[in-house]
Amino acid sequence: MTSPVLFELERVSATRGGRDVLREVSLSLPEGSSCIAGDSGSGKSTLLRLLNRLADPTAGTIAYGGRALATMDVLKLRREVALVPQLPALLAGTVGENVTFGPSLIGREVEVGRALELAGLAADFAGREAERLSVGEQQRVMLARALALEPRVLLLDEPTSALDARARDRVEETLVDLRRRLGLSLVLVTHDLAQAERLADRVVHLDGGRVVAAGNEGRESARTAPAPTP
Ligand SMILES: Nc1ncnc2c1ncn2[C@@H]1O[C@H](COP(=O)(O)OP(=O)(O)OP(=O)(O)O)[C@@H](O)[C@H]1O
Ligand SMILES: [Mg+2]
Repeated sequence: MTSPVLFELERVSATRGGRDVLREVSLSLPEGSSCIAGDSGSGKSTLLRLLNRLADPTAGTIAYGGRALATMDVLKLRREVALVPQLPALLAGTVGENVTFGPSLIGREVEVGRALELAGLAADFAGREAERLSVGEQQRVMLARALALEPRVLLLDEPTSALDARARDRVEETLVDLRRRLGLSLVLVTHDLAQAERLADRVVHLDGGRVVAAGNEGRESARTAPAPTP
């Protein structure tokens, strides 16, 4: 049985800094867990940013749950579809303040310790100054911040790139667990094909801003990837 479609992109093109970065990308991402893979500069982050409208395409359409993304309320969309960016960007202040900030804007309380633990950090990180954390710790605070919004979809841009194997495994376990317990859908960008295989039901490969393969299983799609068209 195939999963319902979460995002459907049709002939989506996007530019950054005046350069064409995505070219007529058509693909569907199912509910559950999918992964966008590809070399550095292939357009992975650009694609992810379109999914919660941090940027909009220059051509083509994106649907989320069957609705045109372009017509949706952006703030409401971003609470439901939360993005954890590739580079951590924490607010000045404590870790706890960072985790409670987003939910406080919509009058929601958060159990900070639980959000931190879900992201693989001890609860006593709450009182630490955000600017005095390692990059790997900051990455996990960014994840905790996104989880505190109780999203339906998490967009994760290389969420474990600064972590060692042990911390990476814990974040991966968290993601699998969140998916199983809360029914959260994940769209994960990664360079790491082994991680894609561990986490994703579907892997989309980008090359030079085009989709070169999309399959239901990482290894299979990598094997059957056609040569990119010029
Ligand atoms: N702010 C920007 N201004 C101009 N060009 C940009 C900007 N951000 C990205 N680009 C260009 O867009 C292309 C795609 O960038 P993108 O960040 O989507 O790649 P990526 O696949 O996520 O790469 P990486 O794996 O290194 O994170 C690259 O050629 C990059 O140089
Ligand atoms: Mg990137």
